[in-house]
Amino acid sequence: MNYRHGYHAGNFADLLKHTALCELLRLLTVKDKKLFVLDTHAGAGGYDLTADKARRTGEAEAGISRLLAAGTKGAPAAVVRYLAAVQAYDRKFGAPAGALRRYPGSPRLVRAALRPGDRFVACERHPEEALALKREFAGDRAVEVRQADGYHALKASLPPVERRGLILIDPPFEATDEFEVLLRALRQGLRRFATGCYAVWYPIKDEAAAAEFIAALGDLKLLAMELRLGAEAPPGKLAACGLVVVNPPWRFDESMREALPWIAGRLGPGVSATCSAPAASASAPASGE
Ligand SMILES: C[S@@+](CC[C@H](N)C(=O)[O-])C[C@H]1O[C@@H](n2cnc3c(N)ncnc32)[C@H](O)[C@@H]1O
Repeated sequence: MNYRHGYHAGNFADLLKHTALCELLRLLTVKDKKLFVLDTHAGAGGYDLTADKARRTGEAEAGISRLLAAGTKGAPAAVVRYLAAVQAYDRKFGAPAGALRRYPGSPRLVRAALRPGDRFVACERHPEEALALKREFAGDRAVEVRQADGYHALKASLPPVERRGLILIDPPFEATDEFEVLLRALRQGLRRFATGCYAVWYPIKDEAAAAEFIAALGDLKLLAMELRLGAEAPPGKLAACGLVVVNPPWRFDESMREALPWIAGRLGPGVSATCSAPAASASAPASGE
């Protein structure tokens, strides 16, 4: 367990994942019915972009900082809302206007969208990250932080009493069999809670493995999204990633088809994004340029 999200917070992968997360939360909280949210791999909750970890990789600079610098003129609504959530979190720390100093992880973005009565469980297995997460939400009764295996939590927490739920599965992919473990856990989750909305992030290091993963979900209602850095990718670093959403809410597809190409276009000339709904065989590539 060497992975620390502090090195990567605010990078291109977070832009994809967190824009989608904010949009899912918005659409799932429109109805006046309680929502359960489970973040299986929650990380530390919030990240200091001025710290050594973030500065050493420069990933936030090439990600969230570039997106913010581009401004919101003409930006799709989902991007505007995501950036507003990021800046609202930064402002909580009293940072002066200007460069972003703190970046919200998925638990913070979830917390900001919760309504009274909604329920949120955030799991993190690494002791230090779990401690940071507990500190992040100390005294906040709306958030249940568990130092636990997120895959076990899927079994233990589903189906939720609310009968409406969003499950974010965002593993670090340190294990060579992560795709298999993930697929098993997702299938198990779906058996327990077939109507839940599941958002699953994955790196694209091996094209065949990523394609196989998506193909294995072919019987489900889903939206598959990808963001590729192309020539903008630093040598030896992750250059592409995907997010698949099972049982996406109504109009999520539309929002993401607008948001992703816009984000890609702000990150650099070679960056591209795609959005496709394989199960419905309604695939529509969306170029980043
Ligand atoms: C990619 S990071 C999470 C980032 C976070 N979801 C976000 O968007 O801000 C993955 C996290 O999963 C944790 N982790 C690894 N294996 C885990 C497991 N089996 N259960 C729960 N957490 C795990 C790692 O320690 C790491 O903090």
